[in-house]
Amino acid sequence: MATAAAHRTARADGTADADAAAYEAVFDAAVAADERIEPRDWMPDAYRATLIRQIAQHAHSEIIGMQPEANWITRAPSLRRKAILMAKVQDEAGHGLYLYSAAETLGTSRDELLDKLHTGRQKYSSIFNYPTLTWADVGAIGWLVDGAAITNQVPLCRCSYGPYARAMVRICKEESFHQRQGYELLLALSRGTPEQHAMAQDAVDRWWWPSLMMFGPPDDESAHSAQSMAWKIKRHSNDELRQRFVDICVPQAESLGLTLPDPQLRWNEERVHYDFGPIDWTEFWEVLKGNGPCNEQRITQRRRAHDEGAWVREAAAAYAAKHSDGTRAADGHAGTVGGASAHQAGENGEA
Ligand SMILES: [Fe+2]
Ligand SMILES: [Fe+2]
Repeated sequence: MATAAAHRTARADGTADADAAAYEAVFDAAVAADERIEPRDWMPDAYRATLIRQIAQHAHSEIIGMQPEANWITRAPSLRRKAILMAKVQDEAGHGLYLYSAAETLGTSRDELLDKLHTGRQKYSSIFNYPTLTWADVGAIGWLVDGAAITNQVPLCRCSYGPYARAMVRICKEESFHQRQGYELLLALSRGTPEQHAMAQDAVDRWWWPSLMMFGPPDDESAHSAQSMAWKIKRHSNDELRQRFVDICVPQAESLGLTLPDPQLRWNEERVHYDFGPIDWTEFWEVLKGNGPCNEQRITQRRRAHDEGAWVREAAAAYAAKHSDGTRAADGHAGTVGGASAHQAGENGEA
């Protein structure tokens, strides 16, 4: 069994002509032993590419996900609700930053990733292409969308790639606050006036099925799943995680006094899980292809926010250059630190 020390030794001994198979064996042994792969360790090109794709998509989802909710900040019904929502939307910006940083450890740059997002070459979660029509949507997103995200992300805290796993630990703590604020918001509406109850029910009706789609296509149609599980990037299959989410949500819906919009939902004594109805995968693929209700609006807003933040990035880079000792400016990293938050500058939700 390879130890972390042996892993490092193999790396340190490596020369340009070293046998790739030997490196691969060390990598495989480290993954098998549940050790973390770190940025300077040798890793297969496909492992690196898979991680960049997944972490980038995750980062993009965090910052695009700010839009549907920021849409309600100015119309939150009380100061308390406004403060909670602002904190949540800011958390999502922070999640984007941790994740872009994790992706950068794999040898890509934030500018490159943002450019791929803006030109449609990398995706974000299709859930954020749905509109937030009423205040209750803020609750439904917190309860269901953040809830689904937690179900997906808790196992990622044990992902084989160290920087991603460590980012997820912090993100998951904040996501659980997001889920609870959504649940609490829906509970208040559900116990409110008949109109408020109806608004909460309508939001849950609209967000339930898209939330189930967040776990990705069924296992037998999931292109990357098997390899990602072998590399321990993913710990559970899409269908496994989806089932876990359904099992958690059913009793929570009951205590909320709301109904999940699925007539086939029932407890299966034999499976010891809830059975649920078929998912409309045609809708999922359509939204993914760019034909969801808000795809165009989201990306237009993102590009505009990026353009409007250009002066902040320039100012941050100039400031960093002025205060650097010369070495940082020379190696091209000047402004990266200051520029980090500047990337989100101008992000203020839907017009
Ligand atoms: Fe998040
Ligand atoms: Fe969240």
